[in-house]
Amino acid sequence: MEDKVIVDGLTFVPYITRDRIQEQVCRIAGELRRDLAGKSPVFLCVLNGAFIFAADLIRETGINDATICFVKYTSYEGMSSSGRIKEIIGLGEDIEGRDVVIIEDIVDTGLTAKYMIDDLRRRKPASIRFATLLHKPESTKTGFQPDYVAFSIPPKFIIGYGLDLDGKMRNLRDIYVVEEPVCADKR
Ligand code: IMP
Repeated sequence: MEDKVIVDGLTFVPYITRDRIQEQVCRIAGELRRDLAGKSPVFLCVLNGAFIFAADLIRETGINDATICFVKYTSYEGMSSSGRIKEIIGLGEDIEGRDVVIIEDIVDTGLTAKYMIDDLRRRKPASIRFATLLHKPESTKTGFQPDYVAFSIPPKFIIGYGLDLDGKMRNLRDIYVVEEPVCADKR
């Protein structure tokens, strides 16, 4: 793990190691395996941020007859949510009667999650579950509570393991948090 990562003039410091991430991926995969026993689910990976988490999680579940689909939305500009959700890639698959598992990188305001779930419900799936690598409960604007959460974190901006700053740093194996500026009275 690097001591620090600098991107666009901002410094990021180590936050969650790859080992801790893998531990939590295994835990959630086990819970999904248990909860979806006997079903052939649809795993719905939310691009771009969830692609690494989804790849690790789906493989770890060992559910070989699952369908894997991708959707894409944007809401973030730089380090904050614009509050407007835009669909970039929609769902082509017929999910009526299917057990859907949404796989997200991070739930921040919860607006993307709410938008997706409202849209999916109209398509009459048998069930919808929501798995996220990260959750910032203090940032919620919707009260949305994911079903499976690897890490609950404070409302700080992070990068790595799929998460980006303006498209960069998704490839980092560990997760880094933006360094807080040192206040004069804390020096
Ligand atoms: P929400 O709709 O506000 O819950 O935002 C969800 C999306 O915001 C995520 O899928 C990410 O793309 C982005 N996002 C939220 N927090 C962060 C962060 O700390 N780092 C990188 N992207 C983030």
